[in-house]
Amino acid sequence: MQAQQPESQAKVLAVGQLYQDFILHVDHFPEEDAKKRANNLEIRSGGNCGNTLRVLSQFPGVSAWCMSSLGSKAEAGGLLQVLEDQHVHTSTCVFHDHGLNPSSYIIHASDTGTRTIISYNKTEDLTLEDFVAKVEQASTDHKFHWVHFEGRNVNNAVKQIEWLDNKALHEGWRNQLTISVELEKPDREDIDSLLDKGDVVFFSKLFAERRGFNQAHEFLKAYAERCQPHALIFCTWGAQGATCLHRPSQELFESPSIPIEQVRDTVGAGDSFTAGVIYGLSNKWSVKDALEFSCELAGRKVAQSGFDRLY
Ligand code: FRU
Repeated sequence: MQAQQPESQAKVLAVGQLYQDFILHVDHFPEEDAKKRANNLEIRSGGNCGNTLRVLSQFPGVSAWCMSSLGSKAEAGGLLQVLEDQHVHTSTCVFHDHGLNPSSYIIHASDTGTRTIISYNKTEDLTLEDFVAKVEQASTDHKFHWVHFEGRNVNNAVKQIEWLDNKALHEGWRNQLTISVELEKPDREDIDSLLDKGDVVFFSKLFAERRGFNQAHEFLKAYAERCQPHALIFCTWGAQGATCLHRPSQELFESPSIPIEQVRDTVGAGDSFTAGVIYGLSNKWSVKDALEFSCELAGRKVAQSGFDRLY
């Protein structure tokens, strides 16, 4: 797989929550109340936005920016360093003097490839005011080409998207900006109010299944009318690949995942897929090419531990 040479720099901002991940690798998922020894423990920085940016920053011509609400600067130092080492800009993060960094305790079962995640997060939500101040500060020279929102902190995210949309419209650069939203967790409060907020929308398999669908294309067809009339809508489906619906033409695109000898690490596979789509579409690839590239990228991620050298 080779990413084609980009035409120009794409300035991409991902808004979401960074996490410290503690990943225990076990052969099988444990019984409740059992005692079990793990084969391996990995401590690494995570969170959907951080994972996506770590992958994106590996591609040529991408300027990657992270916006996350964190504990104190000292406490968050390690999480930020990992991103900065990969040239992800973190000056768009917001710090609070109290509170621990969000952390996730993840049980990765080798036999099934599942990753069961228990997260702890008591940091303050990113407000509209935080978002406006940081976007203004970071776009004095160049505007963002792509702003991606994790489906969390939903009511604030809606206001942030509306502000950005309006600003770009009034200043005449809305056609150079893509706004994407991710609906991964079906039970998150008010999550449906993000459905019509993205030019590009990412759904998870979990989201589709919980809404009563067992096939990605059926889910996409049913949910398309709740998205923007011009939206491009993706749904990932684990080992079966991913599907995309172009709402204006109703055209469906499907791509299988690539064959993998051994599933090593599924944490962040969906986040890697998102990175592939952002990269491909920023470079004006066809939907089919971007989808296939992203499925391959997610597959390569699953076959290795962590996010390094995916490109
Ligand atoms: C994987 C991930 C982890 C993080 C958790 C947060 O997609 O982003 O890195 O701990 O999900 O929900």
